[in-house]
Amino acid sequence: MLTLSTDQLSTQQIQQYLQYAIAPRPICFASTIDLDGNVNLSPFSFFNIFSMNPPVCIFSPSRRVRDNTTKHTLENIKLVPECVINIVNYEMVQQMSLTSCDYPKGTNEFVKAGFTALASELVKPPRVAEAPIQLECIIQEVVTLGEKAGAGNLVLAFIKKIHIKEEVLDANNNIDQAKLDLVARLGGDWYARITEENLFKVEKPNTKLGIGFDQLPIGILTSNLLTNNEKAQLANINMLPDDSLKVKSHFSEATILKIKSALSSQSIQVAWEIIQTSI
Ligand SMILES: Cc1cc2nc3c(=O)[nH]c(=O)nc-3n(C[C@H](O)[C@H](O)[C@H](O)COP(=O)(O)O)c2cc1C
Repeated sequence: MLTLSTDQLSTQQIQQYLQYAIAPRPICFASTIDLDGNVNLSPFSFFNIFSMNPPVCIFSPSRRVRDNTTKHTLENIKLVPECVINIVNYEMVQQMSLTSCDYPKGTNEFVKAGFTALASELVKPPRVAEAPIQLECIIQEVVTLGEKAGAGNLVLAFIKKIHIKEEVLDANNNIDQAKLDLVARLGGDWYARITEENLFKVEKPNTKLGIGFDQLPIGILTSNLLTNNEKAQLANINMLPDDSLKVKSHFSEATILKIKSALSSQSIQVAWEIIQTSI
């Protein structure tokens, strides 16, 4: 195990470790505007949702590690505290990346990267028409985390309007995760694409409290054929179907394989029925 103290690392080393480790990160594709009406469009992956009521996102245009200069997005927000956060899908990933070039101040990256500007309803910065979801935001506060190169600036963006393209909605007007085709940023030049094939569900923990590993039958807990993920699925029932199960210390390989097969199709109930009938 490599153990490092961050106060002994360079900012570049910290960037390498943390941007690879804290990944994938969603991308805030922010459009902003200056006092003369010049539009700016830039991506930020130091970004997430932090409150639902009120709905608030935070993203961070940092001071450049290279030369400690600040980003135009930050400068614009300080003058006109509004933005649109556009959500990035796979179809626009290369154009989005192009907007992150260090164009001179006043350059409109909608034009540079071939995006269509769509007037917002509430705020002055325009929306990216190609984005499947566009969030109109009012900036309430910018929290400065330092003055040195690499220091972040937390932009607290209060979401006032949500625009969603119908093509990513289901029959109930809810977002269909599989239809969004989102991209996310990882370390270096790495990105992830969230397609239907790599989505999977994890059942929520039992609301009445799962029994936990310590209550699993001994033969299940000590089985080398079951993974810890599979044991955690089994530990998510709210009581043992039969108290005598706790002390059962051996299950045949055939039984364990049947349990694994049930768990792979999320049938925890079926897995427990197999355990019960094997006594
Ligand atoms: C996918 C992606 C994510 C990025 N995330 C950030 C970020 O979170 N913070 C940051 O300061 N820069 C980030 N950058 C770099 C900025 O987008 C880049 O510095 C851009 O030129 C800033 O533009 P501006 O000066 O017009 O605001 C990211 C770039 C890409 C391509």
